Amino acid sequence: MPRSPFLIVAIDGGAASGKSSTSRTLSERFHFLHADTGSYYRALTAELLRRGVMPTDLPGVKTALTAVTVTTRVTGRNAEIELAGHTIPDAEIRSAEVTAHVASFAAIPEVRSALLDYQRSQADTARRHDFNGLVMEGRDIGSKIFPDADFRFFLFADPVERARRREQQGLHDQVARRDTLDRQRLEESLQGATVIDGTHLTLAEVVDKIATPIAARLAP
Ligand code: DC
Repeated sequence: MPRSPFLIVAIDGGAASGKSSTSRTLSERFHFLHADTGSYYRALTAELLRRGVMPTDLPGVKTALTAVTVTTRVTGRNAEIELAGHTIPDAEIRSAEVTAHVASFAAIPEVRSALLDYQRSQADTARRHDFNGLVMEGRDIGSKIFPDADFRFFLFADPVERARRREQQGLHDQVARRDTLDRQRLEESLQGATVIDGTHLTLAEVVDKIATPIAARLAP
């Protein structure tokens, strides 16, 4: 029987648009490796803040980037980032301090290029670990990281609804401010992507819209 193709699925969208829950569910349904690239930028932000480096200190950022090795730990279906051999606890990468600074660090070209090849290498990690594919979420996945992805989705949700979701999670997040800093990347990843407006949809409904064409591609 012919082996199913290895698929790369890119999911971009603004802050709190539902990318993580959607990607995690897809990774379970299709046995894909899940790479949450927002968590990579968050981990790097936490590491830079631990070292006392602020986004305005470009020389400090560059020095820290060359000092930190970046590797991956596969936990279940999740491709976690390790910095200098360690993962950073979720509570720290989701903290108000990291959330407040991450978009500013992510806007620095040196920070983005430090993670470029790393993110692309997750496709090989997924193959090595015998996953059926890779689902990667972020802001520039379909435009910069995997422009030739098999599927490119853009998740949209009304900003008021997104702010409400974050509040419900008990998180302080300036969703609109982060989107402003990420705007150019969001606009680029929107081009040519299949847009899904999840404002009034349940998670299951969003997942269904994405899973249907993937299942059709995987069908013998
Ligand atoms: O998905 P998230 O909200 O956890 O992402 C945190 C920040 O990381 C977001 O404000 C912008 C940045 N980011 C990015 O610039 N590019 C990506 N591919 C993913 C995240």
